[in-house]
Amino acid sequence: MKVTYYGHACFSAEVNGKTLLFDPFISFNELAKDVDISEIHADYILISHGHEDHLADAPAIAKRTGAKVISTPEITGWFARNGVDNSHMMNTGGRFHFDFGSVKCVSAVHSSGLPDGGYGANPIGFVIEHDKGAFYYSGDTALTMDMKLIPVICKKLDLAILPIGDNFTMGAADAVLASDFIECNNVLGVHYDTFGWIKIDHEAAVKQFSDSGKRLTLLNIGETKEL
Ligand code: NI
Ligand code: MN
Repeated sequence: MKVTYYGHACFSAEVNGKTLLFDPFISFNELAKDVDISEIHADYILISHGHEDHLADAPAIAKRTGAKVISTPEITGWFARNGVDNSHMMNTGGRFHFDFGSVKCVSAVHSSGLPDGGYGANPIGFVIEHDKGAFYYSGDTALTMDMKLIPVICKKLDLAILPIGDNFTMGAADAVLASDFIECNNVLGVHYDTFGWIKIDHEAAVKQFSDSGKRLTLLNIGETKEL
């Protein structure tokens, strides 16, 4: 599957000819200053939780592209307050079939809260299942036993997108265990380096995965790769 990394926890994935964009936070990210958000394509925008570093650029991209926003009711409500009505509400445990495949919302252990002070409710992760495979984006989360349910209730994952920056989320060591829990050894790392508190040693993180027989990919911002 073709994945493009836009920095922090933002990436897009091409699924059955549709572009799914996750957690856009680009124009406020100094590391992503070479990415022009007016050139980002999206058919769907999926938002894991209400923190600014996961949705700051989403209303602008949704308005320009007409992409449908998929998130919890509390977050789609914030989009409506920001002029974006094209949305689909889901919540933890729910699965819905879209034209590209299905989205299953799974639990994430984190907090949430909207930029306007609104109630952000619980954060979520997403499992995307399609005719050629499945992938998991955990969103911001701690390592949690709930991850063990994913291989039981979802199709076999061929890619997992996991935070590895520590401080706010799992660090690399916990992400290695997460990859055991979800039974997926092909991991794209996100949510690192953006702020001082989450700067990581890339080589050490990659080694932690390879020592366990797993592959951690770290993409350059703006890079597209088949994963
Ligand atoms: Ni967060
Ligand atoms: Mn975050």
